[in-house]
Amino acid sequence: MWGLVRGQANPRVRHLRQLLGDVHLVRGDLLDQGSLIAAVEKVQPDEVYNLAAISYVPMSWQQAELTGEVTGLGVLRVLEAIRVCSGISASRSPGRGQIRFYQASTSEMFGQVNQSPQNEQTSFHPRSPYGVAKVYGHLLTQNYRESYGMFAVSGVMFNHESPRRGAEFVTRKVSLGVAKIKLGYERQLRLGNMHASRDWGFAGDYVRAMQLMLARDEPADYVIGTGVTHTVEELVDQAFRAAGLEWRDHVVTDAAFIRPAEVDRLCADPTKAREELGWEPKIGFEELVSMMVDADLALLAASGGAEGDSFGTDSW
Ligand code: GDD
Repeated sequence: MWGLVRGQANPRVRHLRQLLGDVHLVRGDLLDQGSLIAAVEKVQPDEVYNLAAISYVPMSWQQAELTGEVTGLGVLRVLEAIRVCSGISASRSPGRGQIRFYQASTSEMFGQVNQSPQNEQTSFHPRSPYGVAKVYGHLLTQNYRESYGMFAVSGVMFNHESPRRGAEFVTRKVSLGVAKIKLGYERQLRLGNMHASRDWGFAGDYVRAMQLMLARDEPADYVIGTGVTHTVEELVDQAFRAAGLEWRDHVVTDAAFIRPAEVDRLCADPTKAREELGWEPKIGFEELVSMMVDADLALLAASGGAEGDSFGTDSW
């Protein structure tokens, strides 16, 4: 297995090696077409999974152009690297290459939804520069499949979480906040919109769906989610209760975390994935939240509280 790493002395490499000792690393950057062609030439992959992106929605308003370059045009560059290395001409369609491509699309493309739950036919109305860039990557992946016959597919993934989630995202911000309060390091947790609803699932289940998608005989896009939605307030309640705390004693709403445009409610209809991939999520919402709170309690207890600070902040 190979992983693409960008930048000089990328500090995440050490972390990656601790988690995945047997992964080989190759240099490359979604902003640099030549580096991606070189990476594909070197690795000669059977499958390419593009999960790389600027993925934190608030940052996409601050750095909208960079988000378009990385999260949107980055997909074009990966597809081009695969096309060129597969010997597929840009002017005609010679049939499918050997390399299978997975694009991480997102429920943020649905944005202001006109249908609930959302399935593969639901129209897109993205609400952030991030969502707009992801729509570009999604449609381009479809286009390369249709134009060149490439095995290129998108998984329209709803929010997927785990103890490895970055602390800027609400689930991990809450689980870390709960752990800090429980262990006496902090008293308050400041959050934004408590009324937004998301379909939260376990990341491990979603990675399994990605692999199943590339193992199909024919390429197709799939919506991946649990079909159950919860508000941020329900998430918070569940997390504090998992640690024996009452959230109203600790949570403060803070306008600094309110977004210029919000996605109010997302809920997946994963019928196609269930019927064609045989995919079902194994871990439900309550188990997921408890898993994250327990992991952060253990992490902070082992590090004397210091570990939590190294995960950064989501203020913007
Ligand atoms: N991050 C954050 N911080 N979100 C908060 C906060 C807060 O303090 N308070 C409330 N929220 C609300 C947000 O306004 C949003 O409605 C919801 O919590 C979820 O926010 P995030 O966890 O940041 O995730 P997201 O839904 O915006 O996007 C994530 O999921 C998408 C779908 O899978 C990201 O992982 C995207 O990259 C991904 O595409």
